[in-house]
Amino acid sequence: MPRLIIVSNRLPMSLDAQEDGSYSLKQNVGGLATAIGPYHRSHHDCLWVGWSGEDPAEHTEEEIEAMRSTYEENRCVPLFLSAEQVSGFYAGFSNNTLWPLLHDFSHEAVFDPNTWETYSQVNQLFADALAPLIHKGDTVWVQDYHLMLLPNMLRQRFSDISIGWFLHVPFPSPEIFRSLPQSRDILRGVLGADLLGFHTVDFVENFKSCVQQLLDIEVDEAGRVAVDESHTATIDAFPIGIDYNLYRRTTSSSLARAMRRGIEEQSGKRPGRRYNTSLSAESSAAEEAARKSGSWWSHHVHEELPELTLAQSALFGKDSKPNKVVVSVDRLDYTKGLPERLRAFERLLEKYPEWTGHVTYYLLATPSRGDVETYRRLKQQVDQLVGKINGRFSMLAWTPIHYITRSLPIKPVCGIYAAGDVALVTPLRDGMNLVAKEYLACHDGREGALVLSDMCGAAKELTEAFIVNPYDIEMTCEALHDALEISPEESTRRNRAMQARIKARTAGTWCAGFLDALLQVSDPGLDDKRL
Ligand code: ADP
Ligand code: G6P
Repeated sequence: MPRLIIVSNRLPMSLDAQEDGSYSLKQNVGGLATAIGPYHRSHHDCLWVGWSGEDPAEHTEEEIEAMRSTYEENRCVPLFLSAEQVSGFYAGFSNNTLWPLLHDFSHEAVFDPNTWETYSQVNQLFADALAPLIHKGDTVWVQDYHLMLLPNMLRQRFSDISIGWFLHVPFPSPEIFRSLPQSRDILRGVLGADLLGFHTVDFVENFKSCVQQLLDIEVDEAGRVAVDESHTATIDAFPIGIDYNLYRRTTSSSLARAMRRGIEEQSGKRPGRRYNTSLSAESSAAEEAARKSGSWWSHHVHEELPELTLAQSALFGKDSKPNKVVVSVDRLDYTKGLPERLRAFERLLEKYPEWTGHVTYYLLATPSRGDVETYRRLKQQVDQLVGKINGRFSMLAWTPIHYITRSLPIKPVCGIYAAGDVALVTPLRDGMNLVAKEYLACHDGREGALVLSDMCGAAKELTEAFIVNPYDIEMTCEALHDALEISPEESTRRNRAMQARIKARTAGTWCAGFLDALLQVSDPGLDDKRL
């Protein structure tokens, strides 16, 4: 039976060592794993080949065997790369050269012939690892920028398989891409695939222009490129979706509900921990009133330190704001625009002081790619900014930003999304951005406002969101203010339109759509060869 083999640098799950020497698997963070993971789990004839993330030099042979079999039980085939290979291939060429270049951050891109050498070798190593697994008629679906040479390496070795390749990040204009010394090798590498997929039509157009300008090969109206006499590649857009029902359903799980409740209590949105301490027997009527209105202790402290208790005293005022929660969920990546977003939040507190004490930002940001210097610097910068803003605006019973730097499983993540009156999703550049879609799925049929960057693929579909230029701090601050002020009716109305769209184009329909298109464009003789 022909099989589907998915290949990506990182497997969708990573290993967790248990005390008894065995291993369990946990879901990895990132759009690729989130989108394709459920398809792989539910298709029992589908294999996934990728890097385990483990250094073989740090483990005994028995440990490696135990890791391998844990993966194999879940239809994953792990590759073990040495520290040197990881440094040149992953941290080096993939994340220090291609990632910034593809995201239009060419000033961050490092061009080093040694890392290119290792990148080619590791792509070859993937081809070697795949060779014994591939049978006539199989489909091999290569993912992302780490493996851009692999499609052509496979084509040279196998004439009777279908090869697909999908890029999960943006593709830049030729003016940017041509600065890469190996740009032509990379283009030839991916053109080995039968079908090349991108998130948006704009990225498709950029790629086509690169093929025309750098390789001097024509691309026809239908996106077909005659690479040589025996091979034609097709280029098209396949905007990725999410498993909508999974996020909608998970939002009602007990852990997600507990997380949501905790955040709502903490932020003062519902009575609870933040204010709910019993009063002494001799509490005055004023204190009792204060307690009922949710500010039990401010009465005492406010007389002495009004500037520290503004948040609570404001609750008594006629123009008092309701308490609101802002959320975001990201890998700590410089493309996600975290410093700019924090400055916009700071600006909101500065420009609209009436929000002081009433808006709390839950910022879930998992450190990523710590072996790359730019990422380490970003982490420091975000740590400092959060500290600075919290130091500047905190009150006794209110901290403006709750900063969580661990990666959480899907249930608490859905709880965070569900608690958010507003989601701030403002990448400086992003292929699609699944977080925006996940937030809306967790607000199925109800209010919740999305502030969304116009620099990501998702902005093309989620047009009813508050769309901002993420570099424009004043604009993001104003959009955040408007999103906090929007009526539940208007917000629900906007969401319904966006939710209908993302419900119709899920991760599952995306996978099936790409694979169907791949079958259609693969060598016309292939179906005969399969029989
Ligand atoms: P990218 O692929 O660049 O990381 P996306 O927004 O497309 O960006 O996808 C990120 C995925 O990873 C989403 O499914 C999101 O829920 C998940 N994710 C991101 N950060 C975290 C985190 N801190 N904890 C748990 N999941 C996270
Ligand atoms: C993005 C990339 C993925 C990558 C993920 C996490 O989603 O498109 O290929 O796996 O980020 O990054 P990491 O470097 O940890 O694999």
